[in-house]
Amino acid sequence: MSPLAVIVLAAGDGTRMKSARPKVLHEIAHRPMLSHVLDAVAPLQPQRTLVVIGKDMAAVAAAAAPAEAVVQSPPLGTGHAVKAALAALGEFAGDVLVLVGDAALITTETLALLIAERRRAPAAAVAVLGMRPADPGSYGRLVVATDGSLEAIVEARDATPEQRAIALCNSGVIALDGRHAPELVGAIDNKNAKREYYLTDVVAIARSRGLHCRTIEASAEEMLGVNSRAELAVAEATLQQRLRARHMAAGVTLIDPTTVYFSADTVIGRDTVIEPSVVFGPGVRVGEGVEIRGMSHIAGAVIGDGAIVGPFARLRPGTELAARVHVGNFVELKAARLGEGSKANHLTYIGDAVVGREVNIGAGTITCNYDGFLKHETRIEDGAFIGSDTALVAPVTVGANAIVGAGSVITRDVPADALALGRGEQVEKPGAARVLRARGADAKRRQAKTERSKV
Ligand code: UD1
Ligand code: CA
Repeated sequence: MSPLAVIVLAAGDGTRMKSARPKVLHEIAHRPMLSHVLDAVAPLQPQRTLVVIGKDMAAVAAAAAPAEAVVQSPPLGTGHAVKAALAALGEFAGDVLVLVGDAALITTETLALLIAERRRAPAAAVAVLGMRPADPGSYGRLVVATDGSLEAIVEARDATPEQRAIALCNSGVIALDGRHAPELVGAIDNKNAKREYYLTDVVAIARSRGLHCRTIEASAEEMLGVNSRAELAVAEATLQQRLRARHMAAGVTLIDPTTVYFSADTVIGRDTVIEPSVVFGPGVRVGEGVEIRGMSHIAGAVIGDGAIVGPFARLRPGTELAARVHVGNFVELKAARLGEGSKANHLTYIGDAVVGREVNIGAGTITCNYDGFLKHETRIEDGAFIGSDTALVAPVTVGANAIVGAGSVITRDVPADALALGRGEQVEKPGAARVLRARGADAKRRQAKTERSKV
């Protein structure tokens, strides 16, 4: 394989997003658009990957790392951006693959097809990935010659009405022959509607020098460029469909796929069943044979084999459930490790806690982990039983096989095998209920009488 260099354009202002955040850092399935693009590029094993960013875009450079950031300032157009990247690249005889940072759904397979198309003899100086979107809108139009070769790309703003009627559009992904790239890109001017240096002009420039230019088509859905929040939502929907299909193909049951939302990095083992309306935030790893019941929200959590989660469970970052743990309805966990076979089935908050194996946590138990200033840890050792409605005031440890009585407020450590009761002593007053009822009935009668006398 001849060497490959990749240039990702990400210096634009993204004004149509109406955002303080650079466009390429807007997320799809909880991953920045730029990272999706770089993920698609990585398997092609480029020698160099350069990301063109604007000034004051340190956050974009950080997201791009280890790819090299090249600063383009001011942003004078896609052609100007590629010129800056080529200067940083230096002499390069292989393929130069240019991508736009806002077309985040691109796949490795499609990129490989474009590179192959450029190399196909006679090798082309420029190969452009085309598409036929339902609404060509502001996309550049591909002018194809009668012999099928690519003649020019015309930006929508600069197109004649006839050109604007062309359905075949520029996806923004272009492969260049590295030997010709500096000369062709160097010849781009800004004599157009936007007074910008358009990368798309390289096609006409290459043609005028007798070089070959070609195009292949990819699906418009895959090549969607995200310029607005509405397009971001369309990209999200497309990626979610892909993720659902991928998990099902890998052996995960989704009872109602369209209601389940994944993060790009969600990992799920086979034979896991996911009920409707489950949301996976970033950083979730689910084992095999797990049941995730409806309406659960899970982020930054590891779930062991055979666990049962939900319905209505909330697992926050730092949650680690070992095998066969049960976490039931209205249970919230944060920075909490639960050992094998432990159960917290109802209405509980466990935060900053280490819970051993085969522990039973009763309904309404709360770890009071925050004293208003600092967070503190709760430890519950193997086999302990925590009665319902217990408040565990951290820092505190409940020893192995200890039992805590329901309704306790536990403020001191409980030794192993002890029974702890931290609640007011109960008193019974014989017959007192009857006396109270009689008094009450009397009071009611007197009140009714006064009211009648007022009328
Ligand atoms: C561009 C193409 C258009 C194509 C479309 C596909 C040009 C002139 N037009 O239009 O033919 O159909 O993409 O989505 O190339 N950028 C820079 N520096 C700049 C300007 C832009 O790095 O000076 C980056 C942007 O951050 C963005 C990408 O280049 O990631 C594309 O720029 P954008 O303004 O979105 O171009 P489009 O108008 O969508
Ligand atoms: Ca765009």
